[in-house]
Amino acid sequence: MLVEENFSLKPHNTFGLDVIADLKASIERIDDLSELFQADKYRSIKKMILGGGSNVLFTRNFLGMVLKMEIKGIEILEEGDDSVLISFGAGENWHQCVMWAVEQGYGGVENLSLIPGTIGAAPMQNIGAYGVELKEIFHSLEAYEIKTGRIVRFFNEDCKFGYRYSVFKGPQRDKYIITKVNLRLSKKPSFNISYGAINETLEEMGVERLSLKSISQAVINIRQSKLPDPAQVGNAGSFFKNPVVENTYFDSLRAAFDDIPGYRLDEEFTKVPAAWLIDQCGWKGKRFGNVGVHDKQALVLVNHGGGKGKEIVTLSQDIQKSVQNTFGIHLETEVNIID
Ligand code: EPU
Repeated sequence: MLVEENFSLKPHNTFGLDVIADLKASIERIDDLSELFQADKYRSIKKMILGGGSNVLFTRNFLGMVLKMEIKGIEILEEGDDSVLISFGAGENWHQCVMWAVEQGYGGVENLSLIPGTIGAAPMQNIGAYGVELKEIFHSLEAYEIKTGRIVRFFNEDCKFGYRYSVFKGPQRDKYIITKVNLRLSKKPSFNISYGAINETLEEMGVERLSLKSISQAVINIRQSKLPDPAQVGNAGSFFKNPVVENTYFDSLRAAFDDIPGYRLDEEFTKVPAAWLIDQCGWKGKRFGNVGVHDKQALVLVNHGGGKGKEIVTLSQDIQKSVQNTFGIHLETEVNIID
């Protein structure tokens, strides 16, 4: 296993932040993990796992070892008339796997096209977009247990998936390293185009017969029109989660702001688009030195080039304060801030 020193993380985080890790190791197999977590030489070094670097914000150089997850492979585990169970190595690129599934005619992930990052990172925060969440197609995963070196299997219910949440962000945080993710995809897919913008885009595209490919392409078109391409402008997608408030509180907000959007979740709670709250506070398209708020989606903070992680954190705190002052709502960060 190759261990590199003074490793530049700039190409490995989608914010494009110019930071360095003391050490970097590429994980290509389970044995690499055993070596790093059990051998005396590396055991006590602080470590972090990096997938595609699409959901992290480095505030300074990383004083430890970055483990770049590169376990690869796609394997069909079971195939029936209606569905197929497929195993993906944690280091596979998420979007490439979606494209592969669409090409094979396996449905369930097409709405999740063009999400940056790796397969292994997807269950961590139950990725979701355009009316679909990972939990709907997730079967199980395999993970390396750091304490014991065992491989442990987590089934769907074990992961306790919620909105941008799994146990790996809660009680099991930093205890496991996901090595494989098994998804159950459909051979007789039902299309999910309930999310408004998909329908509109399919119409604009002139699509007459729905297919996995056309839905995937519609999602790609929407994302490309709203979200900046990290290759051009550094960003990590949505910086905050959409907050959930009590219905009574939402009703009182609506009395004051009659056009506030909200999605009633149940008898008790309503989800409010953070992008709207931030937009109302006047942040959209604002630039402060080399960092700012994207001009087409207020939930996306950007590094225009040469920005520092700390500047993005300061901007995010200013946004949190103004949303708190105007709406009495706390915005929780979605991106993992590393300091
Ligand atoms: N809106 C504004 N101003 C804006 C943008 C949006 O007022 O600048 C309002 C509009 O009312 C719009 C609503 O916010 O209808 C929701 O906007 P959008 O459809 O763009 O979705 P979002 O809630 O901002 C979430 C996910 C995205 C995902 C999209 C589509 C979170 C934190 N974000 O964004 O996920 O792609 O829905 O499903 O849940 C990500 O997690 O990195 C991400 C990009």
